Amino acid sequence: MSLTLGIDLGGSAIKAGAVDTRTGTVVGELESVPTPRGATPQATRDALATLIDRFPQCHGPVGLAFPSVIKRGVAYTAANIDRSWIGTDAGALLAAAAGGRPGIVVNDADAAGVAEMRVGAGRGEPGVVMMLTFGTGIGTALFVDGRLWPNTELGHLEIDGREAEHRASAKVRTTENLDWPAWSERVNLVLARFHSLLCPDLYIVGGGVSERWEEFAGYLESPTPIRPATLRHTAGVVGAAFYATESVAR
Ligand code: BGC
Repeated sequence: MSLTLGIDLGGSAIKAGAVDTRTGTVVGELESVPTPRGATPQATRDALATLIDRFPQCHGPVGLAFPSVIKRGVAYTAANIDRSWIGTDAGALLAAAAGGRPGIVVNDADAAGVAEMRVGAGRGEPGVVMMLTFGTGIGTALFVDGRLWPNTELGHLEIDGREAEHRASAKVRTTENLDWPAWSERVNLVLARFHSLLCPDLYIVGGGVSERWEEFAGYLESPTPIRPATLRHTAGVVGAAFYATESVAR
């Protein structure tokens, strides 16, 4: 079986897994290292190299789900990462960390969304599907009949004077010590605003917090049906591996 390495860079940890991209499953355990403080490109490159070394069973291209607008490997935004990422060729940096293997970098929510649409909660779903990842920020991935509109960044939409991700990310829940009903109320406001602007047919709720879906699902309300991500915290890793495999198959 050929395994592809997928990596997901989050606000607190960088996770990696060996993915069988024919089935979209992680084979063996995920490995992780703490996200370096400030997450500068140099420190991140070293952390990526450490992780990559732990997967001798993976060959070929490496995929990275990264919290920024990414076009042709270059990072264009830096909401929760060091500003020096803007203009950095993250694909080249990943390739260097991987000893010259191809490095494929994509927005983290897009990676998670692609994984959910192929092998998770959105499989076969027609119409407009919006994947939301709740973590340090709020990531969004928008699909129309299964096709992605990349880099949508709707977590930065301003709602009543405050960015959606500054109101309702999973990090805000912990830093502001919100209980599930209070946090869910904020999420409901965000979902209502997205509904009024985009009228999606389905929301998929993912990100680290989706591990605790049972604790807050009962408080969520929206005119759009809501489903939990089935790949939960592995979606970014699996999606990154899909992108990596397909970039060389093309
Ligand atoms: C970033 C997005 C990312 C999201 C989730 C936001 O702050 O701007 O690119 O997808 O966080 O990590």
